[in-house]
Amino acid sequence: MSGTSLAGLRVVVSAGPTYEDIDPVRFIGNRSSGKMGFAVAAAAAQRGAQVVLVAGPVSLATPAGVTRIDVRSAAQMHAAVFAQLPADIYIGAAAVADYSPREVATGKIKKQAGRDTLTLELVRTPDILAEVAAHASRPRLVVGFAAETDNVEGYARGKLANKRLDLIAANRVGIAGSGFESDDNALTVYWSDGARALGPAPKTQLADELFDLVVERLAGAAGKERHP
Ligand code: PMT
Repeated sequence: MSGTSLAGLRVVVSAGPTYEDIDPVRFIGNRSSGKMGFAVAAAAAQRGAQVVLVAGPVSLATPAGVTRIDVRSAAQMHAAVFAQLPADIYIGAAAVADYSPREVATGKIKKQAGRDTLTLELVRTPDILAEVAAHASRPRLVVGFAAETDNVEGYARGKLANKRLDLIAANRVGIAGSGFESDDNALTVYWSDGARALGPAPKTQLADELFDLVVERLAGAAGKERHP
């Protein structure tokens, strides 16, 4: 859908994976093509929003009307997102690595004769989404994604509550035609006292339908402010 339902609003979207370097030739990363997050950014721009897309390493063209900031690691994504606040809406579609090597080797780690194992010490990365939701200038709407293989509703609702989100869009991964890399997906969007199933459909269509919900939630929040 094109139009002006998000005109005047600033939307920050994260997309794609992050790569956490082990040494100059190796990294740890999550699976993600960036297609879902890029579709979200495109849909927001088509509705008239001012959109900043913070993208991990992906091979996708920048959607029309979107300002793109490329990053590699979770730490870089964290810094780039926070440099874009304040915003009206934050949507975290990125598959951020939860752990990063404590130390990055400056030279290529060589195989050691006689040793069949290699131990890496990993440290937690910052939870960008949770920090945005707890930030002093919190966006009016903070939306997360949840990629799950099982107990989709349970884990998604746990993230909704623990990260203090307004909405979470859950998708099942590990099956063909949905989740990572595919052009299509199916989402169930949860909020504190409701849920809506979207798709299966192309990610571009799902992104637009997600914004129908976002616009409804913004209108609901504005209504509550006027009629407490
Ligand atoms: O990119 P595609 O190939 O199109 O695939 C789309 C997708 C499957 C990657 C996407 O739809 C999706 O589900 N993105 C979130 C993937 C994920 O890893 O979610 P999570 O359950 O680990 O994280 C939950 C939420 O917290 C996400 O909004 C994530 O962006 C955010 N998060 C997680 C960890 C972290 N350190 N910082 C974060 O902000």
